[in-house]
Amino acid sequence: MKERDLKFTLRVYDNLKELSEKDALLIAKAKDALKHSYSPYSNFKVAAAVLLANGKTVTGTNQENAAYPVGICAEGTALSAASALYPEVSIDKIAITVKSGKQTVNHPVAPCGICRQRILEYETRFNSNIEIIMAGESGEIYSVKSVKDILPLNFSKTDL
Ligand code: THU
Repeated sequence: MKERDLKFTLRVYDNLKELSEKDALLIAKAKDALKHSYSPYSNFKVAAAVLLANGKTVTGTNQENAAYPVGICAEGTALSAASALYPEVSIDKIAITVKSGKQTVNHPVAPCGICRQRILEYETRFNSNIEIIMAGESGEIYSVKSVKDILPLNFSKTDL
């Protein structure tokens, strides 16, 4: 038996000023989109801003449903919208941010497992890594260069 230690690099920024202008702008666009969250059940707003290789930005927010499992995460709406509008264009980055109705979120929030799988699909579809930038309402900001960093031993079309 062998043990293999897997590791990944998490980039941690103290605040928005430490980010590149491009990344700070993408987070700003995600924050602006929070107002479009439809989250009457969780009272937890999530927004994602996708930066495409053609320079366009597409945003999405969580869209909940009275039948809870039917709700869609912000990353899902943003990625689907990007794919519907620009089906041939790869994705460079996705910025994710949140706003809670209960407390101030002072730390980054990472995408759920299903959304990690969704992001992986677009990485493999275009054979191009997608940087994920995560920001709370305040506090540190995280980034990883590929979803594979936070979805090790993943399942993708390369397994089929
Ligand atoms: N949510 C997202 O939009 N993205 C995630 O990655 C995690 C969770 C949403 C789903 C639901 O509307 C709310 O956050 C609370 O779970």
